[in-house]
Parts: sequence; C-alpha cells; structure tokens
Amino acid sequence: MKAQALARPAWREGMDAEYADVAAKLGALASCIEWPLHLPWIDAIRQLKRERGAVIMAHSYQSPEIFHGVADVTGDSLALAQAAADCDARIIVLCGVHFMAETAKILAPDRTVLIPDPEAGCSLASSITADDVRTLKARYPGVPVVSYVNTTAAVKALSDACCTSANAVQVVEAMNSDRVIFLPDRFLGAHVQTQTEVELILWNGVCEVHERFTGQQARHARERFDAKLVAHPECPPDVLAEADFVGSTSAMGRWLAQEKPERVALITECSMADNLRTQFPQIQFVQPCNLCPHMKRITLPNIHACLAELTHEVRVPEDIAIGARRALARMLEVGRGERT
Ligand code: 13P
Ligand code: SF4
Repeated sequence: MKAQALARPAWREGMDAEYADVAAKLGALASCIEWPLHLPWIDAIRQLKRERGAVIMAHSYQSPEIFHGVADVTGDSLALAQAAADCDARIIVLCGVHFMAETAKILAPDRTVLIPDPEAGCSLASSITADDVRTLKARYPGVPVVSYVNTTAAVKALSDACCTSANAVQVVEAMNSDRVIFLPDRFLGAHVQTQTEVELILWNGVCEVHERFTGQQARHARERFDAKLVAHPECPPDVLAEADFVGSTSAMGRWLAQEKPERVALITECSMADNLRTQFPQIQFVQPCNLCPHMKRITLPNIHACLAELTHEVRVPEDIAIGARRALARMLEVGRGERT
C-alpha cells in the first residue's frame, strides 16, 4: 500500500520562535516564503518520532529541511551503516535510497526499518544483478569480490566485502589478493585503481548524477568563479583530473574544515553544498544543480505518512541477509579509510 500524504499540519503561534535554530538554518538556504511551510511538518514529524520511539537517519544528499529539520543522524552511507549497526531505537526511518535502508535492516535485524518512498532507487544498484555476480565469479574463480554499498542485498550476499567511497582502497587491500573484482561503479573503480597495486576487474555501472559532470564544466567553475574544485570519485576521470581534491562525502567536509578555501565548487549532488553551507558560513559555495532524482523522492510529507502509518517496512530474506551481513561486517571492520 502506498502511503498517502496526510493533510498539512497547521501552523501554531510561536512555532518560529520554538524552532529558531532550524528556522535560522533553513531561512539562510531557502526563500523566505518557503521555509515557514516546512515548520508544521517538522513539528509534526518530531512529535510522531517521539511517540513511536523512532530515529530518523538522513543521507547528506537529502534536502535541507530533512537534513536540518528532522534527522537525528546525518552523514554519508558509511556513517549511516555504522549508526544502524549501533542503533537501539525501535524504529529506524531511513531518509535516503533503498540500498541504504536495506543495509540498515541487515545490520539492525531486530529493528523496524522504514523508507518513506520504496521507489527511491539508485542507478548503480540497478546496474548489476546477483546472476551477473555469479557469472563474474565463474569467469574469475577464486578472485575476491568487493562490492560498493550501492548494490542490492542479493549482490552483497555474493560478495566477500562491501565498501563505500570512504574506504574502497583499504577494503580492496584487506582482501590480500593480487586481483579483486570491484563492482559496480567503473569510475570509482578507475579512481581506486590509481591508488593501489591490486589489479581491479571492473563492472560497467555509473551513477546517473555524477556521470553528467564534465571536465569542461569543472574548468569553467575554476576559471569563471576562481573556485577550488572538490569532486566525488563517482565522477568521470576527466573531472577528477581537474579537481583540487577527490573524496567521499565525508572526506569533502573534512577537506573544507582543513583548507578553508574562500570559494569552492562541490562537484557532487547539489544538496551536499546546502547541507555543508551552514557548517562553513565563511566559504562561498558554487553549486552545480545536479540533483539525485531518487534521493529527492523523500519529502517531509512522506516521512510524516510513513511514521504515522508505519508503512514501507524494509525486509530482507534471512538467507540473503546472512551473506550480506558478513560482507558488510568486513567493511565495518576496516572502518573509515580516508584515502578515497
Ligand atoms: P557516500 O558513500 O559518499 O555517502 O555516497 C553515496 C552515494 O550514493 C553517492 O552518490
Ligand atoms: Fe545512486 Fe548516484 Fe543517486 Fe548516489 S547520487 S543514490 S549513486 S543515483
């Protein structure tokens, strides 16, 4: 059953004063007519969350009203996986894409994991099936498989280990093998290949958001705005070649804290800049407008509906979860690598 958005909760007198901290953040990002529309939803979601004993986890690509307004835990896909593994709340609402909610369920099997829109997919996760992995394993017998977390549970279950962009090099090297099958992102794989002696056998998946960036756009941002360029490793190689820094979602934030550039172009999903802007008010962000259509399926009204009606519970069959949990556990053992 698809959760129906419920009627917009009413504005209460004094709500802007009560949520002054949220209002200040959103007011700095959204037009002044937009942010007051969010506060009644934020208020209603926070109340429901308390009643349900739920925790809301939001990826860094979520819209600011979700990221700053209702999330208890925010971060990249590795941080959300670690938080799910450590979570003791009864219900986790995962504001991100489906593979992230599946990962949370696999790592927190006793919790109820909800996703506000189960159609929130990912071009990388849909680029490879479990049968494709079986074929690769038959073609390269004995070669370990490292799969990016941006994969389905069924693909993870056939993998030796998972990784994220924050620890891909370390996970590959932890396989203690001369060759590793690395899937599914060919651009992340090519970038990892520049940092390790291990020979990588790649798959042909791409992120539909990051593949759209071009080296020419990156040069334009530098020349036109005199901006430093910070790129996610899912971008094509000609973009990475232009970048001052290539790093995962979390590494980008650390780089900004360390380098404090006057102006920066974040070559990644557009909401990243919005969500970092409040943390670094002194930095000017040149913002590309590539939005992830899957991440943007999550909205305040559908978070509210899924909490109110407890809809869209994510389930992973135990025979698949066992293998996927083993692969994710190996990733969590390696932790945050910092080199990609
Ligand atoms: P992170 O692993 O950096 O959170 O990225 C996930 C993702 O979907 C990037 O497009
Ligand atoms: Fe998938 Fe790309 Fe969206 Fe990330 S930004 S969820 S990799 S489609």
